Amino acid sequence: MKKLRFYHSRANQQIVLLTTDYQLLTTARSLRLLKLLFMSQTYINQLKDHIGESVVLKGWLYNKRSSGKLVFLQLRDGTGIVQCVVFKPNDEALYDLADSIGQESSIIVTGTVKEDTRSSIGVELDVTALEVLQNVHDYPITPKEHGTEFLMDNRHLWIRSKKQHAVLKIRHTVIKAVRDFFDNRGFTLADTPIFTPAACEGTTTLFEVDYFGDDKAYLTQSGQLYNEATAAAFGKSYAFGPTFRAEKSKTRRHLTEFWMVEPEVAYAGYEDMMDLGEAMILSIVERVLTDRQEELKTLERDTTVLEAINSPFPRLHYDDAVKMLQEGFAKGELENNFEWGGDFGAPDETYLSTQHGKPVFVHHFPAAIKGFYFEVDKDRPECALGIDLLAPEGYGEIIGGGERATSLEYLEEQLKHHDLPQEIFEWYLDLRRYGSVPHAGFGMGIERCTAWMAGIEHVRETIPFPRMLYRLRP
Ligand code: 4AD
Ligand code: MG
Repeated sequence: MKKLRFYHSRANQQIVLLTTDYQLLTTARSLRLLKLLFMSQTYINQLKDHIGESVVLKGWLYNKRSSGKLVFLQLRDGTGIVQCVVFKPNDEALYDLADSIGQESSIIVTGTVKEDTRSSIGVELDVTALEVLQNVHDYPITPKEHGTEFLMDNRHLWIRSKKQHAVLKIRHTVIKAVRDFFDNRGFTLADTPIFTPAACEGTTTLFEVDYFGDDKAYLTQSGQLYNEATAAAFGKSYAFGPTFRAEKSKTRRHLTEFWMVEPEVAYAGYEDMMDLGEAMILSIVERVLTDRQEELKTLERDTTVLEAINSPFPRLHYDDAVKMLQEGFAKGELENNFEWGGDFGAPDETYLSTQHGKPVFVHHFPAAIKGFYFEVDKDRPECALGIDLLAPEGYGEIIGGGERATSLEYLEEQLKHHDLPQEIFEWYLDLRRYGSVPHAGFGMGIERCTAWMAGIEHVRETIPFPRMLYRLRP
């Protein structure tokens, strides 16, 4: 164990704890607090294993209620919320202290764990001691209703509240499920760069960055082109990281910075990607339903719709999707008619997915509306071997991908056609010069998937600090 030095600072009445090489470890007002700071803490989600024992909890005051004789402190520590009870006749000074603290005060509570069947976590705490690290009285987010803009401005604090906390825990589980899914299937994680010299998904949504004056760099829209290189090296690879779109879309599905998981597989076609995407979604749904029951309850998510999701997901040819949309228009169920060749709008995606109550794949999109890199159907060259997965309940496209063109000549033409500078793509063309094989992949936006799992309206609540058209802060 390390040796430590204690000092008592007269100037501010603090005990100062230093390492032997004079690095500040902590300061405290009293030896008692110092002991508590170093005392091993029990987390709220473990309390059920400590019934009858005395424990130390370290956290923040979520809410408080008092009646002449009792104070109920709702303590949160990141793993849960527990009710801590102080009974005035037992200790009047303790009662007064507990009664004096405001929302989000930082506190260390010592007490005995008691079984309590009325509590959602099955226990509460009989408080025997309370140490207040900071007594707060002007926390901006109160239990009353606030507007979204205000909450978004206070996002750094808002993430402490129950619902936001639940959404971000679900995000955590979505990511964990995705990573385990690929890791368990022999994929190698090979992350791709964020500074890139060229566009992947069209030049209209690029964020430009000055790269030391000489070169222009762009924030990546997708790791795909690099994934194609790593798939040729590893057979099966995936990237998982932030991606950027300078989209002037102010919708509930768009962020300017979002996280994408992107698998890429050598010797695979677009149908294999529908198999892979379906298996991945099923494993995410199962994992969220298993590991995040409490959070889904907090969010009042109707889990029956998630439980009903099973294999196989319908696979619609774009031609058939168009027919379905036109029929929907004829029946008066859609406001606008849909023409072959167009890209689906949000109402179209919602309409297509609600016909099935399950996620729906659409494939064979018009090549003209797709990226330069798509393989086309040999018998119908106007159709790209692209796939999209539309989530149910109006969550829209959550997966986009497909089969990549293998021919060097075709890709050279495509670059010209899309007005992209060939010299910057020479490395990419090398993948067609040296061992070109059929290959395919896709990307799934973590935030859209999380919004769907959590059943919340807007993707902005599915990432700790969202970046959107009109939001760069906090
Ligand atoms: O369909 P997209 O643009 O596909 C690609 O970028 C491919 N290069 C991926 C690949 O094949 N490796 O984007 C893929 C997914 C979408 O289905 C959606 O889930 C998400 O990324 N996405 C967004 N999420 C939030 N905000 C935005 N602005 C998004 N744009 C796409
Ligand atoms: Mg797409």
